[in-house]
Amino acid sequence: MCGIVGAIAQRNIVPILLEGLQRLEYRGYDSAGLVVVSEGQLTRMRSTGRVAELSNISADIQGTIGIAHTRWATHGVPSERNAHPHMSRDLIAVVHNGIIENYEAIRTRLVAGGYEFASDTDTEVIAHLIHSHYVNGKTLLGATQAALTELVGAYAIGVIASDNPDQLICARRGSPLLMGIGIGENFFASDVSALLPVTNKVVYLEDGDVVEMGRQSYRIRDAAGEIVARPVQFSEISNESVQLGNYRHYMQKEIHEQPRAIADTLESVSNSHSIVPGIFGAEAAACFADIDSILILACGTSYHAGLVARYWLEEIAGIQCTVEIASEYRYRTSVANPRALVVVLSQSGETADTQAALSHAKSLGHVHTLAICNVPESALVRQSKLRFLTRAGPEIGVASTKAFTTQLVALFLLTLVLAKLRGRLTAEVEQLHLHSLRHLPAATQKVLDLEPQIAKLAEQFACKRHALFLGRGLHYPIALEGALKLKEISYIHAEAYPAGELKHGPLALVDKDMPVISVAPNDMLLEKLKSNLHEVRARGGELYVFADAGTHIREEEGVHIMQMPEHAGFLSPILHTIPLQLLAYYVALQKGTDVDKPRNLAKSVTVE
Ligand code: F6R
Repeated sequence: MCGIVGAIAQRNIVPILLEGLQRLEYRGYDSAGLVVVSEGQLTRMRSTGRVAELSNISADIQGTIGIAHTRWATHGVPSERNAHPHMSRDLIAVVHNGIIENYEAIRTRLVAGGYEFASDTDTEVIAHLIHSHYVNGKTLLGATQAALTELVGAYAIGVIASDNPDQLICARRGSPLLMGIGIGENFFASDVSALLPVTNKVVYLEDGDVVEMGRQSYRIRDAAGEIVARPVQFSEISNESVQLGNYRHYMQKEIHEQPRAIADTLESVSNSHSIVPGIFGAEAAACFADIDSILILACGTSYHAGLVARYWLEEIAGIQCTVEIASEYRYRTSVANPRALVVVLSQSGETADTQAALSHAKSLGHVHTLAICNVPESALVRQSKLRFLTRAGPEIGVASTKAFTTQLVALFLLTLVLAKLRGRLTAEVEQLHLHSLRHLPAATQKVLDLEPQIAKLAEQFACKRHALFLGRGLHYPIALEGALKLKEISYIHAEAYPAGELKHGPLALVDKDMPVISVAPNDMLLEKLKSNLHEVRARGGELYVFADAGTHIREEEGVHIMQMPEHAGFLSPILHTIPLQLLAYYVALQKGTDVDKPRNLAKSVTVE
């Protein structure tokens, strides 16, 4: 999705804007631009290529105040004229993340008032609206506030004026935005990683906030226009944690970070003899005592984590669980059970559909809410009563990897806490689960050791156009996740089915050109799965089986075995995810795609 960054300083801020944009590249974008005030004029550069191209064409620009943007097209094709910043009559410049839903009506009115539009974007109306108020005598702050009252939709914006080189304005509603505080300089950005080279002293802005920034000071006003103090925090994200290091891609780095990410996420329980509700927040014990079911809301990979959790929650904790795709749930007329615990799952905590689904759930009367999220202070965390922060660290690759496995860890902990409260977990079994959890980082590392074999296997996929993923039970969502990973970064069409469903339709697709990838844990469904695999082989399908030790599935013509370690019981889905992540990664390498920034996709999907 789009990223924004702005700076006001006593030094040239162009390199700060460009480095900020580079650090936002991972969010996905198709064009980029920046504007600075220099000698009383707005100087703007835009490009449809990478930020590196913007850097080349901006080499001669200087300024001490400016704003910049990476764009992920929503209104209007990716092109230079649609790239931000957008300007109004060389006086006002604006960058914007989000979507203005009523832009057509505003545009019609502005055109009637004599404004000429130079782009197809919704954002340009913001620039002209602010201009119309500014030239009618309002201050830059007043003009921005007046314009914002007319907008319907979501935004995080940055605004500058050519005749006001000492003031930078930013504001948010529905899209993430934070301020960075320096010495004699201030900044804003949609993501803290953009500001880490210049400061780690940050202020997360609330919905409705509007900020006036000078070089030495800043003032935040809330939605009612009152001056407010927001807490100043020191970001714990280190500059190194968002660097690539020796890895070729962020996705590869993040796959390898999983043992550490899982260990960190387990920190609250790894030195403890029992699992307590308090790890989900101070009010968790009271809340969990009052619930009779679980409703999980999420999108994409996070939704797949929810699907795994349903098996755990129903089998181990004996609590009924429903999992819904957030973008569907938000528009569905559903029957709410106020005694359900609504769990929102999200890496970013800013996904627009998941946020809307949470608001929808609350509007239907749900009161018990829990966010499992990787980003502290994100919207979903702030909007939920209970919270559990996964400790995956910044995830830069668009394809989610370590966020998924750490979500699963959090969901397993939730399952154990609820099982215990419901009298379904003896002290002995609790200790066994704790033991398995403590062993999980090491078990994950062992699976990562399969990397060279998987890299070799991937060579056979580069020429394929379709692939089928199979799993059963707990591992069906892992097949879904494997298919999603493969399609999003290698662009190979992939589908996932519960293996028992094959003969009800998808078997018709199977022939010698259709690779069938199967997750084969050594569990109670193994014999059923083996029968399903025979059905595939009998139709000439080429099988690639990720099989636990002891499954006795034999390597033979048309059957390729990737030998996994011994079966990990309930935690097996976490381990079986990893080879599928590696497979997608190496197939994408074979195909030469842009692994960390796959086409058409964005990291945080902050628009609907
Ligand atoms: C796929 C992927 C997406 C996200 C989805 C939800 O690899 O990353 O499917 O999982 O956009 O994002 P979050 O978890 O940030 O709400």
